[in-house]
Amino acid sequence: MAKRIGILTAGGDCPGLNAAIRGVGKSAQSNYGMEVIGFRSGFRGLMENQTIRLDSAILSGILTTGGTILGTSRDKPNRMTIGGKEQDMTDVIVENYHANNLDALVCLGGGGTHKSALHLLNYGLNIITLPKTIDNDVAKTDVTFGFPTAMDIATEAIDRLHSTAHSHHRIIIVEIMGHRAGWLALGSGIAGGADVILIPEIPYQLESVADAIKTRVHTGKKFSIVAVAEGALSKADQEKLESLASKKETSESKDKRKQLKKDIKKLVDQQASHSFQLAKQLEELTGLESRVSILGHLQRGGTPSASDRLLATRLGTACADLINQGKFGIMVAARGEGYEPVPIEEVAGNRKLVPIDHPWITSARQVGTNFGD
Ligand code: F6P
Repeated sequence: MAKRIGILTAGGDCPGLNAAIRGVGKSAQSNYGMEVIGFRSGFRGLMENQTIRLDSAILSGILTTGGTILGTSRDKPNRMTIGGKEQDMTDVIVENYHANNLDALVCLGGGGTHKSALHLLNYGLNIITLPKTIDNDVAKTDVTFGFPTAMDIATEAIDRLHSTAHSHHRIIIVEIMGHRAGWLALGSGIAGGADVILIPEIPYQLESVADAIKTRVHTGKKFSIVAVAEGALSKADQEKLESLASKKETSESKDKRKQLKKDIKKLVDQQASHSFQLAKQLEELTGLESRVSILGHLQRGGTPSASDRLLATRLGTACADLINQGKFGIMVAARGEGYEPVPIEEVAGNRKLVPIDHPWITSARQVGTNFGD
């Protein structure tokens, strides 16, 4: 039976992390008599051996708070920046895991964290993970905690943008986080009644978006809300990216591959500020004034919603149960009202994108939402 466990939070923070830490910690202590310690700032804290005892006093009062009491970072065990240089710190991390007499390490994170978790699993550590991210793009789980709150925040923003767009007869482009997945823009776009939703999974054609907006004008609606996922891209850019990627794949010259990698990065960086370009293009094509609103980190901050508190508590307590049963190398996936242990190797390196025939998309189309295709 596990006696001493460690917890860390890695990658971008999100609402619900503290509720999950509390769920794991309280259940591990009171139901199974385990001792629980936390590592500060993700894998960096494990490497620097920065620990904090997660006793009941520390776990009290955190259910409703945003962020993570442990702090987080995007550091990876095998690629950590030390004194300006990237180094593989896996050995130190493995050493600290054993020095702390850990029977298990709980990693709360998204895509990057699962790759790091798999890496450490291969060094024989008892790892168990919980899926968190506002992007909802972790493979093999129904949902990630953080996503419900972020969707509520983005929906409220769209609600508020409606009245000002309506008053000024403007197009408002609202840029929504989600990394390379469209879940957040799609969910909040539908809930907020956006007229156009652009997501990475459906490359858009500018003319289609402009036509949808002009059709609205002809029916007397002189404003439009365009919900754009930060990773959305036009069909033309998608084709350029695909062509560069396939050239890079097949090129035999190292220098050429290096150059193509730079070209891809340049295109992706340009795409990162595409909301402003899109606003300008839509102004020209529709004759309507446009404004851009980038929601950014507002979507990640603050208190978790009731759904997130519940989800994080469910997964956190399930995690303590699984540790007690000696089940490691797994992610505690949300499945229906319950949970399911999924091998970490099936999660790491796989991203859950929005299937283009997803029921949410079908419903949105049925109420007239344009996807730019
Ligand atoms: O993964 C969560 C997320 O908020 C993404 O939606 C976004 O692309 C990214 O993190 C932003 O990261 P950072 O906070 O490091 O700028």
